This record gives sequence, structure tokens and C-alpha cells, in this order.
Amino acid sequence: MDPNTSGLVQKLAEAGQSHLFQFWKELSPKDQQELFQDLQGIDFLEINGFFKRAMETSSSTKHEKMDERMEPVPREVLGSVTRDRESLKDWEAKGLDCIAQSKVAVLLLAGGQGTRLGFSYPKGMYDVGLPSHKTLFQIQAERILKLQQLAEQKTTVKCCVPWYIMTSGRTMESTKDFFSKHKYFGLDKDNVIFFQQGMLPAMDYNGKIILESKGKLSMAPDGNGGLYRALGNQGILDDMQRRGVEFIHVYCVDNILVKVADPTFIGFCVQKGADCGAKVVEKTNPTEAVGVVCKVDGRYQVVEYSEITLATAEKRSSDGRLMFNAGNVANHFFSFSFLRDVVQKYEPQLQHHVAQKKIPFVDVHGQLIKPEKPNGIKMEKFVFDIFQFAKTFVVYEVLREDEFSPLKNADTQDGKDTPTTARHALMSLHHRWVLNAGGHFIDENGRRVPAIPSLKDGTDLPIKCEISPLVSYAGEGLEKLVKGQEFQATLMIDERGVHELVKNGV
Ligand code: UTP
Repeated sequence: MDPNTSGLVQKLAEAGQSHLFQFWKELSPKDQQELFQDLQGIDFLEINGFFKRAMETSSSTKHEKMDERMEPVPREVLGSVTRDRESLKDWEAKGLDCIAQSKVAVLLLAGGQGTRLGFSYPKGMYDVGLPSHKTLFQIQAERILKLQQLAEQKTTVKCCVPWYIMTSGRTMESTKDFFSKHKYFGLDKDNVIFFQQGMLPAMDYNGKIILESKGKLSMAPDGNGGLYRALGNQGILDDMQRRGVEFIHVYCVDNILVKVADPTFIGFCVQKGADCGAKVVEKTNPTEAVGVVCKVDGRYQVVEYSEITLATAEKRSSDGRLMFNAGNVANHFFSFSFLRDVVQKYEPQLQHHVAQKKIPFVDVHGQLIKPEKPNGIKMEKFVFDIFQFAKTFVVYEVLREDEFSPLKNADTQDGKDTPTTARHALMSLHHRWVLNAGGHFIDENGRRVPAIPSLKDGTDLPIKCEISPLVSYAGEGLEKLVKGQEFQATLMIDERGVHELVKNGV
């Protein structure tokens, strides 16, 4: 291992990255070897090209007027759980059919670093403090198990929903160990497939790669749109083809309410003949910091809230709703052939987005500096960057309170998207399931608890109620367990039965 004879020194010099060797002589032989290997694995000219293109795009788009080029999603490509009630059963039946024929796979984006949450393990291992203390991974695994069961009951044929889990260099080992330790939460090990997305170095504003220590580059995952490159180079597309997968549901690890492989969404997309679909929630507040799905210059894309003016964000349609109200929740449908085309043809056309970050670095004296202002960029592709290539794109609007509550931040008082808000969202949904199935809640004095909690006595906390996904996927099948009955919180319904934890002294 000699950087000179191997040509590495010259390669770095040609790419203007020679500073990466500045501490070489101070490194231990082990650290030298690691740095040597890391550097050998990097195509510096390609990375310089990514940097140049990303910086050019980010500075030009800032000044362009997005507002005039935007059009809202037309009604004919929109399906809605509130506005198309009469079609929901058909769509669900279609989706369950596809699942029963083992044509549907789910793909989990779990390669993020979860910096805002500040948890040192992969986010899917987080326990938000539900009565069962299930982690996000377990909840999702059990939803898949239940769905397979529902599809099998319909057709009496055994089916499988393969689960592809994208991790990054930083999360792969701990994710795999966690699944193995928990016996894949009851799923067949062969149907849980892990793969790893790429990493890219962080760069300063001059395109120099940042060292996080004397012998280590600062590396970060290449964004959830790193998916497409990874699908190709990790053999995942081939695996899907071998299994006969035709439809793929892609979602993020952090949404506690996610309806994994939602049959109604899948059925809707399949019946519309879509190659690409996006699930959205209605944006009701013009200043909400959420990207919206819309058309720009006739092509679908997600426009970030920072890219439009307030006047556009406030525009309303004749029905009084915001005109650009299709809030993106990173929950997508792809046909296999579309995904294959993206991976094989379109992926290289996708540009990296620039995220300005505070990136710890070693200075010329080898001192570790933690900057207080952004000092460099990370480059990321986004999963929705491929909407523009769809031939038949559809949008499916669902209710936020039923389907979207992401875990982004650590708990703080009145915080948004925290473990507390995620836990409350799930318990509140399950509370409503019990009420809709004819069950009731009573307080410790035996009085019925109002269905809508009253704010005046500070009891706006949700009733503690949790229903295992192994019992119900979306609120179905609960009548026989709760109808006409009264329960005292904490109520837990799982595969072993109905339990009132307080009464039982738990
Ligand atoms: P976020 O953009 O919210 O990032 O990811 P994050 O890593 O969860 O959290 P922060 O921003 O560091 O606090 C949205 C989804 O995309 C996945 C995440 O795992 C999450 O499911 N993701 C993000 C990837 O799979 N790869 C990436 O490179 C980035």
C-alpha cells in the first residue's frame, strides 16, 4: 500500500483533492491503510462533476420564478379517500388481489442519519413509548404480516410481500443485527432483503472534500434518491424480477402511521394504469413547511415550500381549498417496469440537491473544529426526483390523522414530529377504531369518556389505546372484540386478546 506507486497521489492531484493526504505521515499504519482503502473506492472526477452541477443548479434555481410555471394536480389523476368513497372498496379489492398474487413488494427508505432525533441507532429501532414498547420496525413488520394474512384469507393462496430495506454504510450492521435478534418479527428471513445506498463526501464551498479527522473523510448517505443507483448496483432489481414483483410501495421509516403496501392505494394506482403514484395529505395552512406535488412546465414534481412565494402558497381554488395542497409525504407507488427504466436510463440525469450544513472538520493544524455556521455542503438526490419521467402519474389523497405522523425531532415541549406526537397520533387513531367498532371508554368512576377529549380540563391527551397490527391492519375486524363493551384505559388489543392494563394492575 503505497499511495505513490499505486497512482493515488496523482489521481488526487488531478482532481484537486491532494489535501486529503496532508496528515498521511502522522497516521498509524492501520489508519493509513483505512484511508488508502477509502480513497481508492472513490471516483474523484465523478464527485467533482456532481459538485459542479449541483452548485450550478442550486444557484440558478434560486432566482428562477417557479410560481408562474406551476399548475395544481388535475382532478382526473387524483384519487381521494374522502371524495371517492364509492370507489374505495373496489380499489382495496384490486390491491389485495395483487398482494395475494405476490406481485407487490414494499421498499423501506431507512438510510438516513436521523440527526435531528439524535438517537445513536437506526431510527427504525426507536421506541416512541407505546404501551407495547414496539419499535417502528416491529410495527411495520407486523403490518406486512397482517396484510399477507388478509390477502390469503381472500384467496386461500399463500402469498408473500417481500420487504426491501435500504440502509446506509452507517446503519446496515445495526439494522441487520436488530432484525436477526428479533427473528425478523415473524417474517420469513428470506423475504426481508437488506441493501445499502451509496455515500458521498461532504465538500466545502470550493469543492474540497472535508476531513472529519486526520485520516477520515466526512461521508454522508447520498439522499433517499440514492435508492435508484443502489437498486441497480446491489442486484435488487434482478431480485424483484426473479420474484415476479410488479408493483412497489416505497415509504419512509419514520412515519408511525404508514400503511405499508396499502391495498387501496395500490389498487387505485393499478386500476388507473399508473407507472408512478404519490400519496399526499391535504396542506391546509399556506405556511406549512411541506413540499407540494404539482406540475411544473407540464411535468410532475415536488416543489419545496422555500421555492414559492407566499402569494402562490395562499392561492385558493373555487372550492376554498389551497390550490397547491397536495402535501408530499414521501410515500410512493412504482410499477416494476418504470423503476427498471429509471434505474437503467434516467438515474444519471438526476441532479444532486445541495444541503448547506455545519460540518465538523480538521483544520490545517489537525485541530477538530465544530463550526457554528454552515461551512460546506452535502449532496443528495431525492426519491421524488423521478416523477418527471412518469408516463401515467397519479396522486392519492389520504387523511393526515389516519396516515401521517413522522418522527423527526427529539421531544421538547410543544415540539413538532416528536416521539410524543407520534405516540399520540397512533393511540388517537386506535381510539377512533375502537369507537367506530362500537366500543366505549369509561373513566375510573365508570363515566363514559367523551369521544372528543375536552381541552378545558387539560385532558387533551389521547386515551391510551393500542391495537396490534397483528389484530387489525386498518381498523377492520374489531367489532367482535369491542362492540357494546366499555373499557378503561390503558387498553391493549393484541393477538393474545383484549387487556385493560390498569384493571389488571399493570
Ligand atoms: P429525512 O430527510 O427526514 O432524514 O429522511 P433523516 O435521516 O430521517 O433525519 P435528519 O434529517 O438527519 O434529521 C426521510 C426518509 O428518507 C430516508 C430516511 O431514513 C427517512 O426514512 N433517507 C434519508 C434515506 O434512506 N437515505 C438518505 O440518504 C436520507
